[in-house]
Amino acid sequence: MTTFKTSFSRHAAIKAAMAFGVGLGLMSPATAADPVKVGLMLPYSGTYAALGEAITNGFNLAVEESGGKLGGRDIATVKLDDESDPGKAVQNANKMIKGENVDLLVGTVHSGVAMGMVRAVKDSGTLMIIPNAGAGPATGQLCSENVFRTSFTNWQPAYPMGDVAYDKGYRNVVTMTWKYGAGEEAVAGFKEGFTKRGGKIVQEIYVPFPNVEFQANLTEIASLKPDAVFVFFAGGGAVKFVKDYAAAGLKDSVPLLGSGFLTDGTLQAQGADAEGILTTLHYADGLDDPKDKAFRAAYKAKFGKEADIYAVQGYDTAQLFRAGLDAVGGDLTRKDDLIKAMEGATIDSPRGDFTISAAHNPVQDIYLREVRDGQNVVVGIAAKALNDPATGCKMAGN
Ligand code: PHB
Repeated sequence: MTTFKTSFSRHAAIKAAMAFGVGLGLMSPATAADPVKVGLMLPYSGTYAALGEAITNGFNLAVEESGGKLGGRDIATVKLDDESDPGKAVQNANKMIKGENVDLLVGTVHSGVAMGMVRAVKDSGTLMIIPNAGAGPATGQLCSENVFRTSFTNWQPAYPMGDVAYDKGYRNVVTMTWKYGAGEEAVAGFKEGFTKRGGKIVQEIYVPFPNVEFQANLTEIASLKPDAVFVFFAGGGAVKFVKDYAAAGLKDSVPLLGSGFLTDGTLQAQGADAEGILTTLHYADGLDDPKDKAFRAAYKAKFGKEADIYAVQGYDTAQLFRAGLDAVGGDLTRKDDLIKAMEGATIDSPRGDFTISAAHNPVQDIYLREVRDGQNVVVGIAAKALNDPATGCKMAGN
């Protein structure tokens, strides 16, 4: 009966506060009593399914650590499987925006799907946080006040690998990736960094997303005999690529480099085939950081698996939203103040602190990592406080 009484009196108190607030013209009736509704539009099936799940887990962990509330408001989530299908992106986003009337749209993993979501929220003005997809235009040409990202641009982790590769003495490199925004932008970033030093891209290989039939391309790489190969693959496709690369006999003859997604959240499945791979990413295993240690322990205890970059990005999505909601005491009608607070936030991330650029993308360190004994061990900082150029973003301050 205590439970009933507690919840009843809480309810009554909220009602009274609302009546008072509304009476003073301070709040809209929906402000305090209803939970804030968050739409998680993510891949829960297909090659990126594990990524969507990790983002969801990370988000939920941060909310739970704040007592189930952000900015004093209860949080209710609704999930939608976007299937990493760009063709359904706008329609799915509108299901969340118009059908579910979400206060915050969180999504997604796949760059092409994220672009559809960005277009949908440009029309509706819905607040959106991208917890993974690196699509450059989302915080570039199509940047807008209501769109934030807690992850990276595809350029961000790939560009510094150009210097790393050149400094390793590599001069002729083959690139390979899925043919869609993320892969193309990652390769362009690597190419920019590598060729500005004098390196040469001898062949760019593209396969359709989400194909994992790599055999013919690996045969071509063997015949080209480059100094190294740079790739963008992630999730299930990254597991398959790394295993196929080793099975093709390339592992010991042609060094494999990549944006760190190639070996993040995948090492258990890749096993010995991943050992020695060098990648660049805004996260790594074994960071000497109390925040990261606490996060990883809590994540493991709650979900029974190791945290990865996707879990971190989901966690930081809730942290960024909390910074905004705290600043306005949970009052979503104060949207300008909420956005201002998010813009000015320094996020205490497991990856290390990061700030938000004028274009609403993280300004962050990029780690150089090497796979050793099944861990992405930090071997250096490939770039310090790296800010995406955000080409074409015409927002105030950019
Ligand atoms: C993307 O499509 O932007 C993308 C997908 C998976 C990743 C990274 C980027 O791990």
